Amino acid sequence: MGWKSLDDMDLNGKRVLLRVDINVPVENGQVSDATRIERIAPTVANILAKGGKPILIAHFGRPKGKVVPEMSLRICLPELEKAFGQSVTFIETLEEAEKGPLPNGITLLENIRFHAGEEANDPDFAARIAALGDIFCNDAFSAAHRAHASTTGLAKVLPSCTGRLMQAELTALEAALSTPKRPVGAVVGGTKVSTKIDLLINLVGKLNVLVIGGGMANTFLGAMGASLGSSLQEPDLHDTARDILKQAKATGCKVVLPSDGRVSRTFAAGADYELVSLNADTVLEADQMILDAGDLAMSEIVQEFESLNTLIWNGPLGAFEIAPFGKATMAA
Ligand code: 3PG
Repeated sequence: MGWKSLDDMDLNGKRVLLRVDINVPVENGQVSDATRIERIAPTVANILAKGGKPILIAHFGRPKGKVVPEMSLRICLPELEKAFGQSVTFIETLEEAEKGPLPNGITLLENIRFHAGEEANDPDFAARIAALGDIFCNDAFSAAHRAHASTTGLAKVLPSCTGRLMQAELTALEAALSTPKRPVGAVVGGTKVSTKIDLLINLVGKLNVLVIGGGMANTFLGAMGASLGSSLQEPDLHDTARDILKQAKATGCKVVLPSDGRVSRTFAAGADYELVSLNADTVLEADQMILDAGDLAMSEIVQEFESLNTLIWNGPLGAFEIAPFGKATMAA
């Protein structure tokens, strides 16, 4: 294990910069699903119990280095206070935080992506945030694939550890990848191959079965020659997708792509769809898009699972957030 947990750190009297992922869904001006907020509560409670002062750092949406008032983290305050059972001080600007001292108890900094230095992973910006704390604790597993100032940048300059959520994920991943009960398989879905290339390359050498779903599968089907209308895909990564397929073949990893899909002309909840076979010869019309794996794919994927003793899951098989295109993800 090459990382430290909260158990390895002396937090007494220390300011703990706690990177969390509270990029939660919002509807009608209110948080509509607080799961991510609730799941960081044990880490915050642990830091407080060990005498530390949690300073929460998070992003919300993709404001691209600009202040976008609709993407303020202020919206999360009521849910954070509910989950932690105490008040949280919101610090509107970095300058205000730098003036300090920060009040006792829990503080939340405004959306870190309002600063261009965050996504650029600018070392000067990381040093500016680092100066606000003594220890860096990363509990944002679902943002850990981004090398940003508040993730890798802070880890380089401050004594660092994982939060409880990150610890649980890493422990499970280590068990699944280093000493898995074979056969071992993975589902890798979601939209972008580009953010998961390293993951895919790393996994194919270790797996018996790799199920590729969601927009990622479209990039692979496109690489095989399918013409997929307006389906989400990354054509500039077709070569990479072909390389990954070759590598999988060489290492004996079976790759499962959806053999059919729910295809619609509208990206909206309740939209009509048809089930269409997917393979190298598929040709969709220009306004058609694959929004979910189909019924046949669903049953094939579930059947693959039956042969496995370990399953690693990363990302959905379709546009799961809009019904009925969450069908395959939920069924699997
Ligand atoms: C997420 O919601 O998937 C994470 O918070 C990462 O967000 P991002 O894709 O905008 O980096």
